[in-house]
Amino acid sequence: MQQQEDYYWGRIPSAFQEIQQHRRHMWAPEAAHTKQGWLGMGKNIAGLGSDKNGDPPAIVHTSFPDLKLLSQGKVRDVYATSSPDALLFVVTDRISAYDVILKNGIPGKGKVLTALSLFWFDKLSDLVPNHFITADVDQMPEEVKKYKDVLQGRSMLVRKAQVIPIEAIVRGYLAEGLKESDKLPQPLFTPSTKAEQGAHDENIHPDRAVEIIGPELVGQITSVALELYTRAAAFAATRGVILADTKFEFGLTKLILIDEVLTPDSSRYWPAASYEPGRSQPSYDKQYLRDWMVSEGFNSGLEDGKDGQGWIISDEVVQGTADRYTEALHRLTS
Ligand SMILES: Nc1ncnc2c1ncn2[C@@H]1O[C@H](COP(=O)(O)OP(=O)(O)OP(=O)(O)O)[C@@H](O)[C@H]1O
Ligand SMILES: [Mg+2]
Repeated sequence: MQQQEDYYWGRIPSAFQEIQQHRRHMWAPEAAHTKQGWLGMGKNIAGLGSDKNGDPPAIVHTSFPDLKLLSQGKVRDVYATSSPDALLFVVTDRISAYDVILKNGIPGKGKVLTALSLFWFDKLSDLVPNHFITADVDQMPEEVKKYKDVLQGRSMLVRKAQVIPIEAIVRGYLAEGLKESDKLPQPLFTPSTKAEQGAHDENIHPDRAVEIIGPELVGQITSVALELYTRAAAFAATRGVILADTKFEFGLTKLILIDEVLTPDSSRYWPAASYEPGRSQPSYDKQYLRDWMVSEGFNSGLEDGKDGQGWIISDEVVQGTADRYTEALHRLTS
């Protein structure tokens, strides 16, 4: 066991190196040759966007015969590994909106989410420990390595945690109402339940969160989540991006930050330059996809699509979504 601990915690290259590896992997060969680094790459990201131009198609389903699938979330497939303490977290290109998983994915999105989570885990690790072990497949358990082709860039080995069944949502801006998008005087912690698969998460009063997980844990995750948000929002501001709100998940036994962190799936990101309270904001996140679904007639009861075949995102909206996610990555990390 000690050996495993050393393997996972002692010999890990820093998360920063991991990100560099991701960059090389994601953007190569262009990345190596452009002076502007990530910024210059624009839409030429290998694997992100429409598959019309020969990029790899979206990975919406994974299957690794020698690995045991433990759970399939809306976006992530989680596999067991030979280490009882570690999970293989695979970020697919699936996308969900209004709790509906769209039939087609956004090619490369899993890599963008992985790179952003790595970036933020590294940046915020002094505030709270997190579940990240490694994103380098060569350092993962033996049985995982053979799937490197699919896994590199879109997977992480993570420390298995007991998931705290509360989503720690922090909002810095009003979502709707009379003063839509107005900045709040201070960020608000607004927990929601983590619903069972298939059910909707539900906003709850903090008192209800106390009933579910106890006052001590609520106190801890409230203050940690607010600190994480404040730090991240301040950083994003230096990149011309408003972090309007985000959702964190925490695990135990010792409190750690788990899941994904500050991605466009779990956060709302707005360009600061065009921010204007009193209206909805252009954004680098899923709002664009949600708006499209609504314009296509989405309503509750229509989760299976108008023809019962599910929702298929148009090519244009696939590309538009890819562009927004890429923009968030570039702005925040370049
Ligand atoms: N370190 C960890 N240990 C155990 N489970 C984790 C860890 N980090 C994240 N998870 C869980 O793994 C799942 C990730 O999958 P994904 O985000 O796709 O699911 P989801 O559809 O958002 O959520 P859920 O399946 O919980 O409704 C989530 O249920 C998350 O709570
Ligand atoms: Mg999730």
